[in-house]
Amino acid sequence: MTGSELFDFDTPVERRGTASMKWDRYKGQDIIPMWLADMDFRSPPAVIRAIQQRAEYGVFGYTLAPDELIQQVISMLEQSYGWAVRPEWLVWLPGLVTGLNVVCRALGDDGDDVMTAVPIYPHFLSAPGFSRRGLIKVPMMETENRWQFDFDRLEQMITDKTRLFILCNPHNPVGRVYTRDELAQLAAICSRHDIVICSDDIHCDLILDKEKVHIPIATLDPEVAARTITMMAPSKTFNLPGLGCAFAVISDQKLRRRFKGAMAGIVPRPNVLGYAATMAAFAECSDWHTALLDYLRGNLDTIDHAIEQMAPFSMAPVEATYLAWIDMRSSGIENPVQFFENAGVGLQDGIEFDSPGFARLNFGCPRSLLEKALARMQTAMDNLRR
Ligand SMILES: Cc1ncc(COP(=O)(O)O)c(C=O)c1O
Repeated sequence: MTGSELFDFDTPVERRGTASMKWDRYKGQDIIPMWLADMDFRSPPAVIRAIQQRAEYGVFGYTLAPDELIQQVISMLEQSYGWAVRPEWLVWLPGLVTGLNVVCRALGDDGDDVMTAVPIYPHFLSAPGFSRRGLIKVPMMETENRWQFDFDRLEQMITDKTRLFILCNPHNPVGRVYTRDELAQLAAICSRHDIVICSDDIHCDLILDKEKVHIPIATLDPEVAARTITMMAPSKTFNLPGLGCAFAVISDQKLRRRFKGAMAGIVPRPNVLGYAATMAAFAECSDWHTALLDYLRGNLDTIDHAIEQMAPFSMAPVEATYLAWIDMRSSGIENPVQFFENAGVGLQDGIEFDSPGFARLNFGCPRSLLEKALARMQTAMDNLRR
């Protein structure tokens, strides 16, 4: 029996009427929501049990990160990446969007610049402005059917006010898992210009390409580690974003102090059920995780095949995440998201990622729902060609 047979990813879970952000966008309409990045799967049974047990206890006072959880995270980082992390390097957060905004406030002064590579997850684009920082957007290149950094351009675009580079690895929305060589090149540039790196690794346990491994940039060498803030969470992998539990790893004491200083009095600790869920996810769910990856690989094959039939649409290989980044630019469709909403499928607009003409499709859902959405898209395209 394969992992996928042990866990049920096929049976649809009704999410309408549960105040789901993803599903409520199209309340009362026959539009399948494939935009926001959460999955339409129940969380692993062990996570659900852990929450039930914690709830049963019935006392929900102010709660610190449990020692066992800290030890669990440390051993997970050691086992996965050979990364020796000390307990005091961990800073607990209620989410990575919070972390992105904290890091922009923590570094530099008003008017300084934050750099990132586009297309990128929308909160990377909004966080610098919320902190009165400038935003430098370096376009990525799509060459050899792969999204890549344009390192020459990146270095040219650095200003004397650039204090921070925000990296997304694996990269939402382009699905890249960066290689050691790519990370080393990026780190060398940041080192030459004394730029701090904030690496958002929220998708690091969603590697679909079996040839690829996730490398946290901080593990390259101690100098890189000293200029890096790494952020992780179980929320994407185990489908827990509504539970708000994440952490940053910051080895440099001065950097950690600045980060914590920007959090002070504003950022709450994760909630008690989030800690319980995170502990169970990291400690007890490796079989579920393996089965999930198998299932997502199957979904990705389904999409790859469907998009081939929808020429001139195209997409580069998705190495990680459950998000397909579809290039619709040469289709002549003026507003692809509107076009597919009219056909009953809700995609996320590339404009939000600084890339008009693209759309993002979340394939973290039962295959039957994905097939239904893709069939609707195919029909809309067939009608267009007629
Ligand atoms: C790259 C990236 N960072 C952060 C988040 C959201 O993080 P959180 O829910 O922990 O605020 C997402 C969600 O899709 C994401 O893709």
